[in-house]
Order: sequence, then C-alpha cells, then structure tokens
Amino acid sequence: MSTEKKLFATLQGEEIYLYTITNKSGASVTLQTLGAGVHALCVPDRNGALADVVLGFDKAEDYINPDYGYQGLAVGRWANRIRDGKFTFEGVEYTTPQNQGTWTLHGGGRFSFTNWDVEETGDDFVIFSRFSPDGEDGFPGNFTMKIKYTFTEDNTLRIEYTVLSDKNTVANPTNHSYFNLSGNDGETVEEHKLMILADYFTETDESQLATGELGEVKGTMMDFTTLHKIGDRINEPFRACIGDVGYDNNYCLRNKDGEFALAAVLEHEGSGRKMEVFTDLPGIQLYCGGWLKRDYTTGKGTSLVTYRRGVALETQFYPDALNIDSFPLWTVKANEEFKTTTEFRFSIV
Ligand code: BGC
Repeated sequence: MSTEKKLFATLQGEEIYLYTITNKSGASVTLQTLGAGVHALCVPDRNGALADVVLGFDKAEDYINPDYGYQGLAVGRWANRIRDGKFTFEGVEYTTPQNQGTWTLHGGGRFSFTNWDVEETGDDFVIFSRFSPDGEDGFPGNFTMKIKYTFTEDNTLRIEYTVLSDKNTVANPTNHSYFNLSGNDGETVEEHKLMILADYFTETDESQLATGELGEVKGTMMDFTTLHKIGDRINEPFRACIGDVGYDNNYCLRNKDGEFALAAVLEHEGSGRKMEVFTDLPGIQLYCGGWLKRDYTTGKGTSLVTYRRGVALETQFYPDALNIDSFPLWTVKANEEFKTTTEFRFSIV
C-alpha cells in the first residue's frame, strides 16, 4: 500500500490536495481535502481492467456548487432534510439554514464545501478533520469531525467518522459519492442491479419531507429486497417519488441498534463489478441522480455528470429524525467520542 499527495487546484486562495491510496493490485482511491471527499475510486472489472466508479469533476469549483449534487463529498453536520429548518434538542429550539424551500438540506451551510485539514496519513489511510464552532449553521457545540478513510488490499473503502463536541449535540454524517460501476462514460445506472436490506422506507410528503410514517416496500417499486435492475420500475408513478426524479428515498435498514451489517449490494453485469455497502447506521438514502441536469456534461475527463448517471447510497439516520421521535437516533454526548462506520467493499460478480 502507498499514499501519494498532489496539488489538485487553488480555489479561493486555498490549496486543494488529492491523496491517492493504491494497493498491491493497483486499485486506488483518491481523496480530496475539499469537502473531505472521494475524488476517484479505481477498481477492476472481471478482466482486471481498472475504471473510476465514482462521478466527479476536473474543475475544483464544480464541487462547491450545491446544484451539482455534493459529488463525493462528506456531508454534515446533519445529512438530508430538517423540516422548517428547526428542531428541538434537550428542550432548546435550534434554527438551521433553509437552503432548500423551507427546509434544511445537508446541514444547510458550508460544511461540505470547505477545505478540510489533514490530520494524519499512512500507507493505507488519510484522516481529515474539520472544526465547526458552536452555533455554526445553528447546531450546538464546538464540534470536530474526523473522517478516516482506509483502503485495503481487498478493495474495501472504510469510512470512519468520529465526532467530539464540548456540548451534547447531534450528528448525521454521510458520504455523497455517486457510483457507476460500468466504467462507461455515458451509461446511466438503470442497468445496475441493486438490493437493499430493508422492508420499510420513510414515507414523504410532496416536498420530500418525512411524515414520520413508515411504508412497506412489499408490492411496490420501492422493493429492493431481491437483487434486480434499478431501471425495472424507476419510472413508475409512486406517492413517495417526485415526477421523473425516480428514487430519492430513505430505506429503514434491517440492522438493529448500531449493528454493523450489510445494507446494500450494487452490481453491474456488463463489467462484473460489484459493491457491497456495510454500515452501523439505521438508514440509507437511495438517490439515483434524478435531480442532476440532463445537459450538464463536464465531469472528469469524458465522464458525464448528468441525469441518472450515478447512484448515491448515503448511510444515515432517517431524514428529520431530529423532529420525529419514533425514528432511531443516538446523539453526541459532551466530551465523548461519537463514532460511526460505513464500508464500500468492491469485488467481482
Ligand atoms: C438528496 C437529494 C439531493 C441530493 C444532492 C440527496 O441526499 O436526497 O434530494 O438532490 O442529495 O443534494
């Protein structure tokens, strides 16, 4: 294993660096200080040919445009939606930025769009950190998030989040990579097969905000309990999907109480690439890039960042768990480390 550092760009006067961790077989992950993000992930197909399986950009400034979908970035302090940009925690009401309609999406501020510090690097890992002062974007506590990315000889990308705060607070970190295992620059994800280990999803209203109800996947287009193509039912009209966006929904995973377990499997038959997602969090957002523009083309090289070109599998607490008491939530205790881990394991079908 080896880790190499190089300058990516200078953005708003700051140097953005890339760290590439390569294993013995030549597979690699490239991480960027901007948004502590995954910039590239090169894994083999069934013939051993490496291809980058995450979307992203050659131009650093594209990563900090929220309309381009948080490509590969770390998201915090609270991933996904907070209704009305408000929540009550331990008897105090907090107000977060209404950066989408009347709600907060992905923390609502600059958390994903700043250049993170590099704490430590090793042959197979990089640790990023970011300090977020008390009250930043409305959240309580002087709060530091560290993200340790490890890449292994057997092509696993492990993401370990550690949060430390001087006050009790909340955290919902995720990574917003969009995967496309095909290695083809224009193919959408509709031909990918997906399985999600979940029997329920969180019901949403017409603004995609959680209602607090759980819906049963059985008998609906939401059912990914068996491995099948994303495109099979993505265009069906359904109460929890908006127009032609397709899937952008939270699934309630079968794992119990922080158990680290298999959450999802993604496969691409043509290339033979397979990815398994493991997490200790209770939810996963399936988002197939349905809000990405159909005509936006400039990604990395000739790889397009467009409508349905990537599938994000964002491990998380359920959306708006801060306001919905029946949703599982474990919080950050003052001066105690809060940890959560997600792994993306790559192999061949
Ligand atoms: C959300 C989408 C949003 C995307 C990019 C996903 O987590 O569910 O609605 O468009 O992130 O911000």
